[in-house]
Amino acid sequence: MTPLVLGIETSCDETGVGLVRGQSLLADAVASSVDEHARFGGVVPEVASRAHLEAMVPTIERACVQARVRLSDVDAVAVTSGPGLTGALLVGLAAAKALAIGLDRPFYGVNHLAAHVAVDQLEHGRLPQPCLALLVSGGHSSLLLVEDVASSIHPLGATIDDAAGEAFDKVARVLGLPFPGGPHIDRLAKDGNRTYVAFPRGLTGPGDLSRHRYDFSFSGLKTAVARWVESLERDGQPVPIADVAAAFQEAVVDVLTRKAVLACTEQGVRDLVIGGGVAANSRLRAVAQARCDAAGLHLRVPRPGLCTDNGAMVAALGAELAARGAPSSGLDLAADSSLPVQVP
Ligand code: KG4
Ligand code: ZN
Repeated sequence: MTPLVLGIETSCDETGVGLVRGQSLLADAVASSVDEHARFGGVVPEVASRAHLEAMVPTIERACVQARVRLSDVDAVAVTSGPGLTGALLVGLAAAKALAIGLDRPFYGVNHLAAHVAVDQLEHGRLPQPCLALLVSGGHSSLLLVEDVASSIHPLGATIDDAAGEAFDKVARVLGLPFPGGPHIDRLAKDGNRTYVAFPRGLTGPGDLSRHRYDFSFSGLKTAVARWVESLERDGQPVPIADVAAAFQEAVVDVLTRKAVLACTEQGVRDLVIGGGVAANSRLRAVAQARCDAAGLHLRVPRPGLCTDNGAMVAALGAELAARGAPSSGLDLAADSSLPVQVP
């Protein structure tokens, strides 16, 4: 029988518990503390850790009810050991270790970014080997060459300053939108003019392309948007929020998709998978699809609910490890806030 794997995710503000057997998703329970952070304009680590502690047992129970399994049916436990907020990660790790001891089952510490890639298997079946992954979240923006999601991942490039999601959140703040800003910008941009201003496309000039071919930079874009808004306000003009949102989003999406397609073409990889919270963005999904079609590439993006942080993604990667009979992580496994995605 294929092992039943319970996955726990607590790297940021979502307490996620997923249950997966092979590539079948049986439960995906998420409790978010996002409302508690909104008034601070960003995630407050201490608040997130406490919320994880309160949500952990009820979320595990909810997942078991959803999947109609008992905790004793679980064959292995997987948990995010990094990257993320240390205090938040520790809550998940402690819960996973306690379950592993109590149930006498193996437990696997997994990388959050690799889990964002692995989750696509729950929707679209086994990942082609190799594939290229564009990982875009609140804390990371990377291009990864994935030969095997459980055993061979090589970073090709990453952001040199802000992550894509961070840029969405910061620009949203400038526009007076609530945290997290990504979904609000996505929604407002639908009624905006994408060509309102040609905001800068970071690291796409000829010089940058030779030094930072697969890297990203969104800090200059964020500043350009802030300056634009400030100058309108200084002149007493109304800020066309939908247009600014659409033009900003277009700049992010343009660079992300252009570099992802470039990397696929140059690396000779036919399949692109996009993961992480920003992969929920409707314009990113549409432009990526159009550019992949034009380049003869096959695009895979999980449904939006599986793009943002959840426990199913951790269970999906844990299921890969369990299926290979991987040895259990040690009970001394520590949280690593900057765990590298590279394996081996
Ligand atoms: O992967 P995730 O849930 O958490 C991290 O690992 O960081 O990503 C959260 C990020 C936030 O910055 C949020 O604004 C962004 O994903 N996000 C979006 C959308 N939904 C979430 N960004 C743009 N458009 C969206 N629809
Ligand atoms: Zn994430």
